[in-house]
Amino acid sequence: MKESQGKTVFLRDYQVPDFLIDETSLKVELFEDHTLVSAVLHMRRNPQSPNPQAALVLHGRQQELLEVAVNGRFLTDTEYQLDKEHLTINEVGDSFVFECRTRIHPETNTSLEGLYKSRVMFCTQCEAEGFRKITYYLDRPDVLSVFTTRIEADKNLYPVLLSNGNEMEQGDLGAGRHYAVWHDPFRKPAYLFALVAGDLRHVQDSFTTCTNRQISLKIYVEEKDLDKCEFAMGALKRAMRWDEEVYGREYDLDIFMIVAVDDFNMGAMENKGLNIFNSSCVLANPATTTDFSFGRIESIVAHEYFHNWSGNRVTCRDWFQLSLKEGFTVFRDAGFSADMGSRAVNRIEDVGFLRTVQFAEDAGPMAHSVRPESYMEISNFYTVTIYEKGSEVVRMISKLLGPELFRKGTDLYFDRYDGMAVTTEDFVSVMEEVSGIDLRQFRRWYTQAGTPILEVSRRYNADRQEYHLTFTQSCPPTPRQPEKKPFYIPVAAGLLNEKGQEMPMRFAGESAILTSRVLAVTEPQQTFTFVNVPQAPVPSLLREFSAPVKLKNDLTRDELMFLMSHDTDGFVRWDAGQQLALQVMQECMQQMKDGMVFEMDQRLVLAFEHVMRSSIDDPSMDKAMVANLLLLPSEAYMAELAETVDPEAIHEVREQVRKQLARQLRLIFAAVYNANTTAGSYTYNAEEVARRTLRNTVLNYLMTLEDAAWFNQAWLQFCSADNMTDESAALRAFLNNPCPANETLRKEMTVSFYAKWKHETLVVEQWLSMQSAAPVKDNLPGIKALMEHEAFDMRNPNKVRCVIGAFCNSNTVGFHAADGSGYHFLADQVITLNRINPQIASRQLTPLTRWRKYDTARQAKMKEQLQRILAEPELSPDVYEILSKSMDQ
Ligand code: BES
Ligand code: ZN
Repeated sequence: MKESQGKTVFLRDYQVPDFLIDETSLKVELFEDHTLVSAVLHMRRNPQSPNPQAALVLHGRQQELLEVAVNGRFLTDTEYQLDKEHLTINEVGDSFVFECRTRIHPETNTSLEGLYKSRVMFCTQCEAEGFRKITYYLDRPDVLSVFTTRIEADKNLYPVLLSNGNEMEQGDLGAGRHYAVWHDPFRKPAYLFALVAGDLRHVQDSFTTCTNRQISLKIYVEEKDLDKCEFAMGALKRAMRWDEEVYGREYDLDIFMIVAVDDFNMGAMENKGLNIFNSSCVLANPATTTDFSFGRIESIVAHEYFHNWSGNRVTCRDWFQLSLKEGFTVFRDAGFSADMGSRAVNRIEDVGFLRTVQFAEDAGPMAHSVRPESYMEISNFYTVTIYEKGSEVVRMISKLLGPELFRKGTDLYFDRYDGMAVTTEDFVSVMEEVSGIDLRQFRRWYTQAGTPILEVSRRYNADRQEYHLTFTQSCPPTPRQPEKKPFYIPVAAGLLNEKGQEMPMRFAGESAILTSRVLAVTEPQQTFTFVNVPQAPVPSLLREFSAPVKLKNDLTRDELMFLMSHDTDGFVRWDAGQQLALQVMQECMQQMKDGMVFEMDQRLVLAFEHVMRSSIDDPSMDKAMVANLLLLPSEAYMAELAETVDPEAIHEVREQVRKQLARQLRLIFAAVYNANTTAGSYTYNAEEVARRTLRNTVLNYLMTLEDAAWFNQAWLQFCSADNMTDESAALRAFLNNPCPANETLRKEMTVSFYAKWKHETLVVEQWLSMQSAAPVKDNLPGIKALMEHEAFDMRNPNKVRCVIGAFCNSNTVGFHAADGSGYHFLADQVITLNRINPQIASRQLTPLTRWRKYDTARQAKMKEQLQRILAEPELSPDVYEILSKSMDQ
């Protein structure tokens, strides 16, 4: 084990910085074989520091220190100490100018952290701790400074030079070089620093703020991508308006820039005034982009923009507070997406993701609370728990307060903490202050990991006309948290009578008549008694998924069908359908295990039929909702729910049920397909997206029929589509339903798709991921072949995600092949990636860490591969943390 491995940072050790940096001036001289960075830092001791004699300790890694000076005097080697992570100067005054000059190598930086080259351009990624790879600095989010950045580079290769804030100056340097100087007037932590240099074009627009200021908006891309900027620009303007209207937040600088880069570890980054985006998260046009990607791009553009207030103007004190900005900003972008499209459908999709991915994390070896207590490598903590569960927690607060008080709370939060680095505690306190609501118990959502289990039982007393709902909550142990205290769980509920109408929900002694209310479950066990209840109702619980819990109810299949067609809440209707499908599939799985003939409960067929019939009879019905009602729970979700996962059985039963449904309902599936055929040319709007989603959802069922007519129809759709949504859905219909009868056509289409699109990187990425994610057995050789394909590149994170990630996470039956070949494959890739890009390596490792969920034979094979990786010399701290935590739990 290396020294840097296994070092844990604890929240309880937080100390205010000993020094502050009032001003930061950087000069970055870019060359092809090295880069020189000169930093001038105006520093002083922090009056809040408890150590007035403290030495100056700056962060810094992987750079060559050329010279260092204090107050203009160069230091000799005895006046400072250097180690792999720090530069220490023992004697400094109370206020001084620190200067240093270092040499770094962006051209060989494959970690994509700090300053690096993405193909033809230079760019940066500093969050969380990448700035220390650029220069020596106090690289922590509670040190805020005003930055001035001078960039020098070859004028031909890098005509565009960008950094945060406003451009102050630019000019020629002779010898084919030029420079630009940028100044950002807003104090910011180093993680929000950005620099870009390249041969870029841009599209330009402007936005007039609510106080009539003109903001110049620019999206920078390579020339070939100029035709893919319009959508993001529109999304940006919608986000800017929305944040003014909904949160009262106006943009502050006079210019807002977005740059698209091909090599990027994450989706996008909110650098002040200069957001940097993975090109897959910003570039779009109908020919190359699916509806799904359009929606994702809109929400990511909004997300990064919203950080300007929730993250940048008000930032995090330390990285344990990460959810303060990420959870809150996900909550904000979800609100935006809900307002742009269908609220219920957005909610359903978000919950589907949360319950599949976040619940699995919360039940695994990396489980941690929304505000963690410790970490080894902060990059590993950009998790679905910090993001999605963090957003759920903010959502619960917003519901507890109601819209007016919540807005009052966010106003006070932004106002009071503007320009400061704060904590989740500060956020919660503000919410308490404006509302008078006691959130003491609620705070456990921030400190306790694990998904609470909420069991509900019901009792109707006809004589007394009383209805009792009893809730029992518990939360399984998680690493280092064996015991949990009860959570404050808001359960939005309604009661339906036999006609499907809402009944009044009245507690004894109440006169007000409410038909929907939020029950506050705060005790380990708690009973709510409703009076004047004339008949036994069907309870509708956890409406809108009011809390991130596993609800266990005892609803019968008939009751689930009843809720599916009658409840007022879209989420409950959908979830009832999911529960019904799960029950039916579980029953079928048992039949298969017992060697019985497969006999599917016809109520599922009826439910599907009913949904499709209503959508045909009532064209005003939300088709996106219909499409979601027609989706069976995913294999991943079924695995999450299982005690011990049998990936083959899950796959088998789900496939059989899909086929059964298609066989029994082929006519109505066909009718839905035909009723939703494109009328005009492609447009991206909620209604058209819903129509295409529904049509392509039923196409996937129809393909299971192995019927030549439907192969032909899908092929026709593939050839005649004027948009990537329909074109790729047709190909996916083949790839996800392979059979000997469609093999020729399937292969032909796969080849011709690549031939047509091989010059469009983002389409090629979709092509790779469609093939890799297809849930088919024994296709590992195909995946390995894709890695040999000219389009594959191990150094490009998108390619890694589209092939390795898609296979290991989406093709569960392939990855979990009983011979362990999938595990061996992933371990090989992690070992290679560990040397190239530790962040990507450690993220790919996730599926192997879930070994506890599998049978003993698979467990052994998974652990063997984890051991094999662990035995590698020079493991990055990123990979080491995940390995060590997943082995010793
Ligand atoms: N601040 C993050 C990006 C980031 C995370 C950079 C970790 C470096 C390390 C950004 O705001 C973000 O959250 N991006 C998400 C997309 C978003 C819509 C949830 C991403 O990149 O996946
Ligand atoms: Zn974010």
